[in-house]
Amino acid sequence: MTIKILNSTVVRSAEAFKADIAIEDGIITKIERKSKTASADLLPEFEADEVIDAKGQYLLPGGIDVHTHFDMPFGGTVTADNFYTGTVAAACGGNTTIIDFAIQNKGETLKQTLDNWRKKSESKAVIDYSFHIALTDVTDNIISEIPDIISQGITSLKLFMAYKGSLMTSDETISKILAESGKLGFLTMIHCENGDEIERLSKELLSNGKTSPFYHALSRPVDAEESAVEHAIKMSSENNGNLYIVHLSSEGGLKHIKKTNSDKKRTFTETCPQYLTLSIDKYTETPNAPLIKGHKGNINLPPEFEGAKYVMSPPLRGKYNLSALWDGIKSGAINAVSSDHCAFNFYDQKTLGLNDFSKIPNGIPGVETRLYLLFNETIKEKHITINKLVDVFATAPAKLFGLYPKKGEINIGADADMVIFNPNKKLHIKRIKLHQDVDYCPFEGYKGKGTISYVIANGNTIVKNNAFCGVSGSGKFLKRNKFDPLCLQASSSK
Ligand code: URP
Ligand code: ZN
Ligand code: ZN
Repeated sequence: MTIKILNSTVVRSAEAFKADIAIEDGIITKIERKSKTASADLLPEFEADEVIDAKGQYLLPGGIDVHTHFDMPFGGTVTADNFYTGTVAAACGGNTTIIDFAIQNKGETLKQTLDNWRKKSESKAVIDYSFHIALTDVTDNIISEIPDIISQGITSLKLFMAYKGSLMTSDETISKILAESGKLGFLTMIHCENGDEIERLSKELLSNGKTSPFYHALSRPVDAEESAVEHAIKMSSENNGNLYIVHLSSEGGLKHIKKTNSDKKRTFTETCPQYLTLSIDKYTETPNAPLIKGHKGNINLPPEFEGAKYVMSPPLRGKYNLSALWDGIKSGAINAVSSDHCAFNFYDQKTLGLNDFSKIPNGIPGVETRLYLLFNETIKEKHITINKLVDVFATAPAKLFGLYPKKGEINIGADADMVIFNPNKKLHIKRIKLHQDVDYCPFEGYKGKGTISYVIANGNTIVKNNAFCGVSGSGKFLKRNKFDPLCLQASSSK
């Protein structure tokens, strides 16, 4: 299959220019720069199977969403999207690679965890994928397995300072893993919230009859994140670790991250679109959408339960945090924006916590809306530039997670993973137009600009005008390179 894309504006993390592009056998083989006003085909000798005139449109690298939860058991249920529906939604949202969390069951070896997640994904994923392993039961045997896991291309492990009684890990274990990450060359991803404090506050609130979703936010205050971020950074620096803080939500946490900026920076951070666009008042909003008639498990819910749609950890914060996080992206203190897509249906899954906020499965859908939200905040609110968008959406994640230069930037020799994005068409986010298999969208009604005309993955068109046209099981498992602490400093654009 060969494709020629004419007249698009190619956007990289450091520049943007008009060019004609050739794609052959899944690889970008030619990039011919042209002046803004030129329109003649600069690759006339290249006869492609498909020619796309992308005049007036952006050519962005395919998104790399390094934080998804597909087919994941959590809180007595399983996430709504599996590896087929989840990766179709990811593709329709302009992503060509995802990295999902393979959760270690208690007593399981890392090999067993990996086999389990490979079975879930193999015949289903429609875009390329990899896994982080989320460690929940660390013994000396598990630690001795890590070199083998790295040799299989799994170069990031996640640990939880929260979810006491299920996923939470002790400081002693976290320190050991951080030390291993520095020695062996992987990233230690940490969920930074103080699990003991959250448990204490939750019990107190529930015993006073404070059971609705709003109290989820009060049970997980900014302080619980801030102190955990500070502590994780301390443990990492004491153990020469490679630290990646997941889903940062607060200015308080960011303050500690900013202090770590230096040439030998080994602390990296992600935030998510929800923490950049939504705030704590979502927990007190009353229903804005009619009940979905005929939906399985449809029941008349109390209006205050609407907030369950936004129950995630960390929770949404006060508005002042939003601008602080945007500033963090601008300054480089925050390196990536991932979705943390962890979808649960409102009517028959979130309702598990109808009488107790602590039983509401944590997480929201977002893999399909990440690009739209980033783009609109870039253009409308001018929070960041289009180059910075590309960086946090694809390039920096590719570098941090061992996928660059094959993925993450439009370069000669790179995989032909890209999005043709029309910045002028109207955008109106509605659940019914999305492909995520979940009964609500937390960004319902969001209006702006920008639609995806094409998504090309490994040289094949898999999305055209919001219609998925790829193939189940066509995504391949990506063996990732070891973590390089200097990865964000190197550049090799062609
Ligand atoms: O609420 C969230 N974020 N659910 C997913 C699990 C996690 O902590 O990333
Ligand atoms: Zn987490
Ligand atoms: Zn997550």
